[in-house]
Parts: sequence; C-alpha cells; structure tokens
Amino acid sequence: MRSATKRPGTVVAVLVLTAVVMAVACSDGSPSTLRPGGPGARRLESLWWVLFGCSAVVCAIVIAGVVLVVVRRRRRGEISHRDPTRFVVLAGAVVPFVVLAAVYGLNLRDMLALTRPGEPASSGSPPLTVEVIGHQWWWEFRYPPGSSVVTANELHIPVHTDVKLILRTDDVLHSFWVPQLMPKTDLIAGQTNTMWLRADEVGDYRGQCAEYCGMQHAHMAFMVVAEPRAQFDDWLEWAGTAVRPQNPQQQRGQQVFTQMGCAACHSIRGTGADGEVAPDLTTVGDRWSLGAGTLPNDAQHMREWIDNPQQSKPGNAMPPQAVPPAAMTDLIAYLQSLRQRQEGTS
Ligand code: CUA
Repeated sequence: MRSATKRPGTVVAVLVLTAVVMAVACSDGSPSTLRPGGPGARRLESLWWVLFGCSAVVCAIVIAGVVLVVVRRRRRGEISHRDPTRFVVLAGAVVPFVVLAAVYGLNLRDMLALTRPGEPASSGSPPLTVEVIGHQWWWEFRYPPGSSVVTANELHIPVHTDVKLILRTDDVLHSFWVPQLMPKTDLIAGQTNTMWLRADEVGDYRGQCAEYCGMQHAHMAFMVVAEPRAQFDDWLEWAGTAVRPQNPQQQRGQQVFTQMGCAACHSIRGTGADGEVAPDLTTVGDRWSLGAGTLPNDAQHMREWIDNPQQSKPGNAMPPQAVPPAAMTDLIAYLQSLRQRQEGTS
C-alpha cells in the first residue's frame, strides 16, 4: 500500500496547494478583518495575530515533542520506563491552563473595549445613531430622530465618526457583520443590542448576515458607504425626500407604481407610497444591488427582479408582478431615476 507518509512529495504538494489557496483567498479583494478600516476591526486584527502566534508556538512545541519521541524510540528500540505523571500534569494541565487563561483574559479585555466607541477617540464629527433592523432577508437602516431617512441594505455613514448601532430583529436571529469595521453582533428577538462602528477611510465596506437565518441567508448582504462629513450631510438631506419625476416617462412610471399596488408594501418618501413591510425605495436607484446582494442594480436586472423575484431569490416575501411591458419600462425608468446624481451630471 502506498500511503502519503511514504511519499513526502504528496505531503509537500498538499501543503503548498493549501498555502496558495489561503493566500489567494486573502488577496482577491474580499473583505477581511486582516485589512481593517476602523478601530473595531483593528482591535480584532491585533487579537487575531496574538492568538495565531500562541497557536503557532504551541503547535511547534507539540510537533517537536512528537518528532523527538519517535526519533529516540527508533534509536533505542525501547520505551522509557520513567514515571510520566509529572510531565502529564505539567504539559497536559498546568501549561494549557496558563495559556488558555491568558488568552481568555485578552478576549475579555477586547470584548469590553468593543462595547465603547473606538480608540483612540476620533477627532471627527459628533456621533451618529442608526437603528438596524434585520428582516428575512434584508436590512433596514433608520436614521435618528429629526431625519425621516430609511434605507435598505445600504448604510451611509460619515468617515471618522463613531456610529452607534441599535440592533434588533423583526423575525429570527440574524448577525450584523462588517469584517473590515466591526465584530459580528447578533440581532436577537425580544432584545436590543448596541455596537459601535467607525470607518477611518472613505470607501465601501461589504457587510453580511453572519448567522444562518433561513434559505436566503447568503442573500442578506449590505454595503457600508463611508463618506466625508459634508457629503454625508448632503446625502442625508437628499435621502429624506424622493427625487420628483423629471420627464413624462418617469411620471407614468410613478403612476404605475401607485396603480400596481407597490405602495402597499414599499415606501417612497415625499410621495403617497408609505408601505412599511418591504424595503424603502426612496433611494433605490442609487443602491449597490437589488435583493440585498442578489442582483446588480441596473434596468435589465430590475425588470427581471420585479417580473419574478422568486427566480433569483426563492422564498423572499415579494410575489411575481404581472406588469405589461410598456408599463414595466416606465416603472423601471422611474425607479432608476431615484438617485442622487441624475444621468448626464457628474
Ligand atoms: Cu440573516 Cu442570516
């Protein structure tokens, strides 16, 4: 029989392949806590390296011990008859207890620190509070009193600003996670959790539901958009009221929206549409995706989505809509126009 141990080449090949796969996984632009963009993730990154270092040292010592035993035994052809009790107590109980207690202490320190705004303190703008509500399978973000802004699956924040998130769920257990900015925080039925988030660089940070919550758990993604304060303030003011139709086609599209009954579930602020059970569409033309990361947001995919949302995201709450083709074209022209920067401007 040819075992892997008799073929060191196989072992080396497997190790190299594993290393390559891991290196690729870390470098393809995927969001990783090891590329932190804020104080929360930076703290986690430091802890990760400490844990990795401890594991590496312990692993190296254990492997060295095993190799030593094998080599000695082969050389002597016999087993030592010394009493192993002292060694077993020391290496099997005392040392692991000390190592695990130290690591647990570090974990507790960081867990405690993460319940407060990021350190060092931001010299930026005053803190912001946003309510995060998890739904099967999308995210609702409600901006603080004084603002009527509600978005879905896209959280705009000012850069260098501590953002207090108040997290709750409308149905089952979800978990809010932005790997580059903050740790996972569960959204638990009947309970409100809070967590702090801060981005120290302008940019888009991918987030994801990190707790299995049903069939479309994977399609419960979101984007955190961190902007300079002035740009964020403009956005917040703009996002409170929908853009008005700019031409006859968009006007017809708005009528289709009303007539088809879309407003029974969806809101578009500043119009009569005030449904509360589905994602707010006031800024839908601007969103990074449709269906919480299911489809790209463009006219063609929006048509596909409205026509039959069950095809690309089976089980979601939106039923297929029988909209005549011409009315569909108008409807999409209207919905796509709900964006901050109109086409033809920069
Ligand atoms: Cu929500 Cu998984």
